[in-house]
Amino acid sequence: MKIAVIGAGYVGLVSAACFAELGHEVVNVDNDRAKIAMLEQGQVPIHEELLPELLQKHRGRGLRFSADVRQAFSWCEVAFICVGTPPSPNGEADLSYVEGVARELALALKGHTVIVEKSTVPVGTCEAVRRTMLLHGADPRDFSIASNPEFLREGTAVSDFLYPERILLGVSDEESRKKLSAIYMPLLDGSYYERDDAIPGPTRPARLLVTSVRSAELIKHASNAFLALKISFINAVSTVCEGVGADVRQVAEGMGADSRIGPRFLTPGIGYGGSCFPKDVLAFRSVARSVGYDFQLLTEVMAINESQKERFLAKVREALWTLRGKKLAVLGLAFKGGTDDVRDSPAIEVVRRLLQEGAHVVAYDPAAMEKAKALFADGEIAFASDAYEACTGADAVLVLTEWQSFLELDLLRIRGLLKLPILLDGKNVFSTGVVEKAGLLYCGIGCEGSAFPLHAPFSQVSEDRSEMAEAGAQVAGEFTSALQALSQ
Ligand SMILES: NC(=O)c1ccc[n+]([C@@H]2O[C@H](COP(=O)([O-])OP(=O)(O)OC[C@H]3O[C@@H](n4cnc5c(N)ncnc54)[C@H](O)[C@@H]3O)[C@@H](O)[C@H]2O)c1
Repeated sequence: MKIAVIGAGYVGLVSAACFAELGHEVVNVDNDRAKIAMLEQGQVPIHEELLPELLQKHRGRGLRFSADVRQAFSWCEVAFICVGTPPSPNGEADLSYVEGVARELALALKGHTVIVEKSTVPVGTCEAVRRTMLLHGADPRDFSIASNPEFLREGTAVSDFLYPERILLGVSDEESRKKLSAIYMPLLDGSYYERDDAIPGPTRPARLLVTSVRSAELIKHASNAFLALKISFINAVSTVCEGVGADVRQVAEGMGADSRIGPRFLTPGIGYGGSCFPKDVLAFRSVARSVGYDFQLLTEVMAINESQKERFLAKVREALWTLRGKKLAVLGLAFKGGTDDVRDSPAIEVVRRLLQEGAHVVAYDPAAMEKAKALFADGEIAFASDAYEACTGADAVLVLTEWQSFLELDLLRIRGLLKLPILLDGKNVFSTGVVEKAGLLYCGIGCEGSAFPLHAPFSQVSEDRSEMAEAGAQVAGEFTSALQALSQ
């Protein structure tokens, strides 16, 4: 199939590479010429596991890059719209990028083309794309419109795309259903998984869901809103845990053992972020409002999410009293582990608040430093080349992103580098015991050790590195499974 993918961002670039991996002829188009030039030269503009390998494999063969939107449209049989849908100031999704593509499509179509909306959009957007195209002179016989929402998660995007739990097609005509099913057939009939060169993954043929266009659009918004709700729920539970002296990790494990609830997205922290959940919850609430329903539950989900940052900042103040002039090591800037994406990252917001209160921040992130640098004025914060450099001479270390590599840190060494032995864990990456064994006061979310002044037993501090390593390895194992479960 000849496929044009419009937008070479986190979704578009991964989709384009994966469609090429499934054997299609793909052109990935973006109006950002600098990005296209980078991709043509073999550079990869985002941090995403397995993506460099796929691009290397298909660039110049099944996968081309172009800034010429119209040429791509007149060539393809199927066009996937994967442009951004950021929030507008009133909370509704800003659909101007989608509209821009619709106008271009109307002017360039040649032969029958299936236009597929893959960006996350409010219900009714496919209708609006159709109307716009007709207004701009497209012949209704030349195109059909379908919705194919994307459920990949940054950090595991390639595996998610090639091993999806479901492929959702919102279609209103047989032509769209046939072409889209054909595109995904290697995943639906499992033939991709039998290939020797397949990207390895948890082999399972994907489940195909075919719905109306409107239902498909709504499923994506409702799914993201529900996941955000689950995160806010466990965050609220963590607050109760702190009040009553229970441990949210144990509570989450007990709740998650019930298959009706499930263990995923039950990890408390400084709140959800990223380019999807915050805007999608807002946009879904706006959709509800537009039909006269006040979706107050979502208002509360957002309020809890905001309060998590405040609650964490209160813990920092509790640990350090005043923040003016204090040097704080920040580990993690990305909105979650495994990605370089800092859009709407709670870690960035926490850093901004710390700066406002007069703290000096020295930050380290395994992948997101370049993107984070663009968000701060020169010299506003310092960037360290590793976690140890960030911790040197700091009054406390704050963990703000759940990077797995943080678990491999030598906490005894960190304790030696810090001015004060304080670790504030905004993502419950570490377990209380392991941190306290290294002689650090520990403060996580909703768990033992989360109240200051801590009972941290300096006298009981273990200097025995093998004991530390053993405990660390155990937690690392637990964390790996937790990470697999925890993706936004
Ligand atoms: N990032 C995720 O994890 C994720 C997951 C599922 C769904 N989504 C949804 O997918 C959509 C895209 O998200 P993203 O994270 O890939 O965004 P992104 O900002 O990374 O990429 C969007 C790309 O579209 C390009 N673009 C904008 N207008 C264009 C035009 N007229 N012609 C050609 N290119 C154009 C931009 O230059 C940019 O490169 C959003 O609706 C998002 O909600 C994102």
